[in-house]
Amino acid sequence: MYVAMLLLLVASPVAVYSSVNGGTSCIACTASVSLVDQLALVHTEGIDKAMQRLCSFLPDDYKSVCKEFVSLAGPIIIDLLANGENPDTVCQALQVCKTEPPNPTCHMYPKPKNGFHVDAHRSKIMTKYSDKLKEIADIDICGMLPGLKQICKLADRLPHAGPGEYMPKVDFDGDGYSTLDVLRGTSWRGKDCDDRRAALHPGARPEDWDRYEDSNCNGIYGIDPVSSKPYEQLLCADSDPMGIVVLGDSGAAHFHIPGEWFTPSILNMEMFLNVTFVAGNELDWPSMSAVTGFQNLTMPIIHGWTDSLYQRLRQRNLCNHRDYQSIAVNGGACGNMNTIVKSLSRNQQKDYPVLAIYSLVANDVCNGHPDTIAHMTTPAEMRQETLITLDYLDTVLPKGSSLVITGMFDGTIVYRYMHNLFHPLGQLRKDLTYATVYEYLMCLQISPCNGWMSANETLRNLTSERGAALSRVLQDLVEKSNYTNYKLYYLDFAIGINAEIDNYINHGGSAADIFESVDGFHPAQTLQRILSEYIWSNLMAKHPQTLGRVNTNNEQILKLFGDQGGY
Ligand SMILES: *[C@@H]1O[C@H](CO)[C@@H](O)[C@H](O)[C@H]1NC(C)=O
Ligand SMILES: *[C@@H]1O[C@H](CO)[C@@H](O)[C@H](O)[C@H]1NC(C)=O
Ligand SMILES: *[C@@H]1O[C@H](CO)[C@@H](O)[C@H](O)[C@H]1NC(C)=O
Ligand SMILES: *[C@@H]1O[C@H](CO)[C@@H](O)[C@H](O)[C@H]1NC(C)=O
Ligand SMILES: *[C@@H]1O[C@H](CO)[C@@H](O)[C@H](O)[C@H]1NC(C)=O
Repeated sequence: MYVAMLLLLVASPVAVYSSVNGGTSCIACTASVSLVDQLALVHTEGIDKAMQRLCSFLPDDYKSVCKEFVSLAGPIIIDLLANGENPDTVCQALQVCKTEPPNPTCHMYPKPKNGFHVDAHRSKIMTKYSDKLKEIADIDICGMLPGLKQICKLADRLPHAGPGEYMPKVDFDGDGYSTLDVLRGTSWRGKDCDDRRAALHPGARPEDWDRYEDSNCNGIYGIDPVSSKPYEQLLCADSDPMGIVVLGDSGAAHFHIPGEWFTPSILNMEMFLNVTFVAGNELDWPSMSAVTGFQNLTMPIIHGWTDSLYQRLRQRNLCNHRDYQSIAVNGGACGNMNTIVKSLSRNQQKDYPVLAIYSLVANDVCNGHPDTIAHMTTPAEMRQETLITLDYLDTVLPKGSSLVITGMFDGTIVYRYMHNLFHPLGQLRKDLTYATVYEYLMCLQISPCNGWMSANETLRNLTSERGAALSRVLQDLVEKSNYTNYKLYYLDFAIGINAEIDNYINHGGSAADIFESVDGFHPAQTLQRILSEYIWSNLMAKHPQTLGRVNTNNEQILKLFGDQGGY
């Protein structure tokens, strides 16, 4: 329960402008209590047993913290649930959820049948458990575990993202590439093949054709005994190698909170094995994303195979092996990308050119503010902020690079397909739909997107209209800009992507595969795949020069170098 709570605290994939009534802590509490309540039902056991069960699922580091929390809050939770309260009122009694006037009380589930007991109960509870409540209020959640402190900081650092904030944290030679998967390491950028020498990294133009060592980490080096020429020269020189980069938001980073963590009927210990990995990657899965994905696997907490531009570029030319970078950040928008972009590692003189995808599809119109329209990016701001990024890129991208700017997404499709479906926390009792979850997030002012995750159709339409206006600015920038080192291309993401989603669903696909189950909004694994295919086929049809050449030596590379040192 506790890990789920803690992760939810940092799970806010957008910059949270403000929150009320307890915000993320409140929803974390409500979700956790609901989970315990349902676990007891699934396993026909008492609430106390269900809480122990949940703690026992967690990895060792978290187990003791979970038990400590249960020893404090457990008796109150048991007492209240036994008295007919529901997760909302329990968390109000725990004072994690509040009612801060003039805001209305927020609730996720229907009010308990016999009325909202909490007011009558409050003073009784306060007296009975006053010591415990005080202790709960004093818990410094982020300070409880060393690793968590770091994760907690992720939640509030976004609006003040500094240059280089998203560089790998473990990088001994400082070349911008790591050997560790998490902390912006190899999940995000090709693995460094020598972390003591900065000149050796993915994407480097090979020194002396890699006669003696692999300077660009693509696994190809050494001398062909027959011709006495270096392999890199023989197999790669004529193939125009290139890297792939994404500059993006949580959608591009592949934000994914496992639905299994909130599905009591299938929750077990296996679901929590990768908690450290998940937290260390900011709840993102770039290694399975549309642009930089390289892991083609299914895990208990993320399902389905991966298709990506990186995999396709690599398949086209094996010399591109490991040359990928995801500079995608939860909350990315035009106004912070011009700082985030400074985390890109590319040496204009010494590295190969790249295909870069600039994809900020929602956050410029998405916020959790009650007056959401007033807090959207304006077309004038869009132009000004985006130009800063574009100008900067001309100073770092190697000559011959391409930049594909995607338009904004049209999120009206999300509500259309999702609002009637049941959330993982509502599947057992059929008592919680996405429409209700969206309302609840809006009430706490922590919604990733009030404009689209709303029952108000006029508001949803207005949000898409602003998105379309911002897309026109991007398209205009592409048409009118002329940079020395890279060429610009524009790719529509509103009409085109929605047509792909409609097509998937009209052919028997489920909307539940398209959008993330926990937040009901982000692109899920299937949509990541659809995005990859969509971008690739559009570029292939209209701008094939951005994809480089097919390397006729691929078979030979495969024969000589096998998996090229893997990832
Ligand atoms: C997830 O955990 C399993 C079991 O510990 C491990 O085999 C696997 O490599 C992990 N995956 C990742 C991506 O960390
Ligand atoms: C990824 O896995 C799927 C399903 O197993 C398979 O069809 C596909 O060819 C694989 N892709 C790559 C690039 O290996
Ligand atoms: C919203 O937009 C759709 C599609 O353009 C339109 O059919 C619908 O009438 C609009 N609804 C409102 C309330 O404006
Ligand atoms: C729906 O949203 C529009 C635009 O923000 C607003 O003017 C209107 O009052 C809202 N309607 C309802 C019923 O809240
Ligand atoms: C872009 O600028 C270059 C040099 O400044 C110029 O030669 C070229 O014609 C320009 N191209 C376009 C399409 O404006």
